[in-house]
Amino acid sequence: MATQTQFKKNILCIGAGYVGGPTMAVIALKCPEYKVTVVDINKDRIAAWQSDTLPIYEPGLLDVVKQVRGKNLFFSTEIDKNIRESEVIFVSVNTPTKTFGEGAGKAADLQYWEKTARDIIKASDSDKIIIEKSTLPVRTAQAMATILNANEKGIHFEVLSNPEFLAEGTAIKDLYEPDRVLIGSRENDKGIRARDQIVDIYAHWVPKDKIVTSNVWSAELTKLAANAFLAQRISSINTISALCEKTEANVNEVSRAIGMDARIGNRFLKASVGFGGSCFKKDILNLVYICETYGLTEVARYWESVVAINEYQERRFVQNMSRMMFNTVARKRIAVFGFAFKADTGDTRESPAIHVVRQLIDERAHVVVTDPEALPNARHDLKDVLDKVTFEEDPYKAAAGAHAIAVVTEWELYRSLDYKKIFAAMEKPAFMFDGRGIVDHQKLYEIGFNVFPIGKMPLKHV
Ligand SMILES: NC(=O)c1ccc[n+]([C@@H]2O[C@H](COP(=O)([O-])OP(=O)(O)OC[C@H]3O[C@@H](n4cnc5c(N)ncnc54)[C@H](O)[C@@H]3O)[C@@H](O)[C@H]2O)c1
Repeated sequence: MATQTQFKKNILCIGAGYVGGPTMAVIALKCPEYKVTVVDINKDRIAAWQSDTLPIYEPGLLDVVKQVRGKNLFFSTEIDKNIRESEVIFVSVNTPTKTFGEGAGKAADLQYWEKTARDIIKASDSDKIIIEKSTLPVRTAQAMATILNANEKGIHFEVLSNPEFLAEGTAIKDLYEPDRVLIGSRENDKGIRARDQIVDIYAHWVPKDKIVTSNVWSAELTKLAANAFLAQRISSINTISALCEKTEANVNEVSRAIGMDARIGNRFLKASVGFGGSCFKKDILNLVYICETYGLTEVARYWESVVAINEYQERRFVQNMSRMMFNTVARKRIAVFGFAFKADTGDTRESPAIHVVRQLIDERAHVVVTDPEALPNARHDLKDVLDKVTFEEDPYKAAAGAHAIAVVTEWELYRSLDYKKIFAAMEKPAFMFDGRGIVDHQKLYEIGFNVFPIGKMPLKHV
């Protein structure tokens, strides 16, 4: 095994999650002369990173990890030792929404981040560059710099913001070919020198014109604003989907034509049961809280409505199911196709499926959840209602005897199932509620299904 002295620089990442793991694996691959170590307080997670059953499902990730693990990429629970030995420390710990005290339900809970800052002070005996990789409220870097530089050892910590823009499901591609890398620093000598070191890491594979620099506050705010803009597009098209269902317009035709306008662009215009994921809602609420803090009430209300529309869309989906199935789903078997918040990940944080399933359970339906990657997380998310829900890996078995199927995650697999076979094994009349617009509606109608797509007029036999 390589020894530490062989490497030009020691890079550490604190937090081995969906961001820390993939990001550091790609940095290790692209920068073989640097030693990259990822630490976490969660021993099971680190053990999983050291095995071939990684703690997260992400296409292409295992291949990257296998190329560099044990060469210049290491996973460890020895946090203090690795802090001491590193010159550059990325912090990628979780920053969930606060559940207590002032700002509960909106503000970011910074306890993990602050604990990390204190761990860094305690273990350090030399100057270091600290990089916010986690998504944080504007001005956090400055607060952290104040805490870190209050140390009594005379050590200087230069705090930078380098928010991560990868999307789960396409993380490796996003890291290989980012639209941009953003590095925020202080605009004085120390800040610029530190920034140049981080630019140099990314410049190993990212074209220089895609590495953008800014002041620290702009970098912090950019990440929140980018997620708010992305989520806002989904909520916008989802409001139009509700109108389409009433007017015989087809939301797919509307969004295709809207998206051909070069000023608008065609991405993130797909109507669905709603957005999920660990970031969109929390980052918008964080933005809302910051706006409220500065007295910008109208701005706060504007962004808050993006979340409100998302919740409306999830609610509307289940209300529609109940109405269309003769005003009750009680005691009916409903097969929920997909539990992950999007395809190609096992992550279920804030997945619309959680809300859909819970609402169906409230309506006394018997829910069967199927998903190719997310069933372990689904079991955890629904642990308080396990007696009211069944988990089934095989979608054919999930649908057998069901009155309805609800497609909640856009897994490719659900496009190409044998729906004739599925229909034959279902209760009649059989219903399909397509919350992702992925199945062939006309074909399913011809098979005999009553089909209810988001944003399109239903195709009904009843
Ligand atoms: N998931 C995404 O797609 C995504 C994309 C961009 C940005 N982000 C942001 O990146 C940050 C991390 O997100 P994630 O999805 O990787 O979270 P995660 O929960 O998957 O991982 C965070 C990890 O940090 C560890 N941790 C917490 N406190 C620690 C401490 N004091 N010392 C060591 N380890 C500690 C946790 O055990 C956990 O394994 C968040 O701020 C998030 O908003 C996430």
